[in-house]
Amino acid sequence: MPGKPNYLIRSDAIHFILALILFPQIVVAAQAATLSATATIQGDQEQGTISKHIYGHFMEHLGRCIYDGLWVGEDSSIPNTRGIRNDVIAALKELNCPNLRWPGGCFADDYHWRDGIGPRKERPKRINIHWGQVIETNAFGTHEFLDLCEIVGAEPYVAGNVGSGSPQEMRDWIEYMTFDGDSELANLRRANGREKPWKIPFFGVGNENWGCGGNMTPEFYADLYKRFATFCRDLSGNHLMRVACGPNGGNDHWTSVVFPRVSGQAEALSLHYYTLSAPWHDKLRATGFSEVQWFGILNSTLRMGDILDSTEAIMNATDPEKYRHLFVDEWGTWYREEEGTNPSVLFQQNSLRDALVAGLNFHIFQQHHERVKLCNIAQTVNVLQAMILTEGPKMLLTPTYHAFEMCKVHQDTKYLPVKLESPRYSLGSESIPAVSVSASRATDGTVYISLVNTHALESVDLKCQLADIDASQVAGRVLTADALDAHNTFDQPNRVEPSEFSDCSISATTLNTTLPPHSLVVLTLSK
Ligand code: AHR
Repeated sequence: MPGKPNYLIRSDAIHFILALILFPQIVVAAQAATLSATATIQGDQEQGTISKHIYGHFMEHLGRCIYDGLWVGEDSSIPNTRGIRNDVIAALKELNCPNLRWPGGCFADDYHWRDGIGPRKERPKRINIHWGQVIETNAFGTHEFLDLCEIVGAEPYVAGNVGSGSPQEMRDWIEYMTFDGDSELANLRRANGREKPWKIPFFGVGNENWGCGGNMTPEFYADLYKRFATFCRDLSGNHLMRVACGPNGGNDHWTSVVFPRVSGQAEALSLHYYTLSAPWHDKLRATGFSEVQWFGILNSTLRMGDILDSTEAIMNATDPEKYRHLFVDEWGTWYREEEGTNPSVLFQQNSLRDALVAGLNFHIFQQHHERVKLCNIAQTVNVLQAMILTEGPKMLLTPTYHAFEMCKVHQDTKYLPVKLESPRYSLGSESIPAVSVSASRATDGTVYISLVNTHALESVDLKCQLADIDASQVAGRVLTADALDAHNTFDQPNRVEPSEFSDCSISATTLNTTLPPHSLVVLTLSK
């Protein structure tokens, strides 16, 4: 959005120019030497649960995410269940999609829920002021969203309107959705076709209120938050986790003002960080990029770890027991819009690089499992770092989808710390670890290890000690491709997809594997 804040602006101009001169090609022509890494998976130091909710998704009334992407209407020739695309439902089910955040984003702070209930033909048309001033028909509203959640098996995360709404509007929406008794609003819900209330576990009190949600100061938002949150009640056995708007990336000032003031009335704080590696007005391309831009994006996404560290440090000062959770409820890559598309629809392709971005972020979230309990990639279909792209009746799964599908094995498992000695991947004056590893143990004893080789050109031999891990077999899957920007298109929808990985073996307490360049690997260790 115009006026996007500072954390998104980095000066990679030198890299960018060097890239154009030195690495105009994107196809990986040759593989150089193999690097070596060592690790210990500390099965003897099992920690807490990796919340399944860190694998959550976000869907906003923006571009073709909701309309076309998810909702086609009951009369569509595209196969659907009560208006929702069957192909997308099946794809989301396959991911064990744990939660869906809706209706925004910026859209949430201009959304009035009464517009989206009742007979569809009577719903008002409104302007979507944030995203292209297109007409919002409100065909997809509260019932449709919560129906989608039930069909997919995802828990709803509803974002309420603080920016242009009122505390009364917010409390009424909660009553409409969750109250089981004989009130006017609960009866209105029944008249609209839903007898039983829904369970709403997650409720956002505003979105980006430092920006599109009202351009507030942290002091003003904190006061407003408390006013709104006072009226967000647990009704009929529903338990709301109220989520306060947290910082833009690493804006520690926002966090240190807002968190101590609201934490008595907030169960979680949200944080947004998008990966750009370029100035806001000159974003990188989703495909057709050089190795320098490959490196730049991976380097920039690793900042997520520092941002979580500094935000958590502030939260720890007043909440050392970690009662309040941290939600990263928007993350992902943000590139230049695809040529020929409307800039306000934020449609971008999705390449192998995005899958590695996802893998690196999962590892960071998992490392922060004690505080980070829910995350939402932006966005589910056709917008930003999407899982799914659609074109009329056609649908494809992106490399990011495959990363989610491969790494879903970590959902609700126990975190196992990893001691890693990784070689560096250097480019110009900067370097990042060539290897990222995350491990977990399921209740049946199965151990899952996901690994990312960030290096564009070099494979990595990894020798891994297994401490207190009872395993004699290893099976693996890999996601990689012959080009750094390999992606799926409607002509070639399966160019990037996982395949079996056999370059791994276990002997006694040692696991050996060779990670191909630019790859994501997931290993399953069993008895
Ligand atoms: O995901 C797109 C937009 O990014 C969201 O609407 C907003 O919250 C953020 O700025």
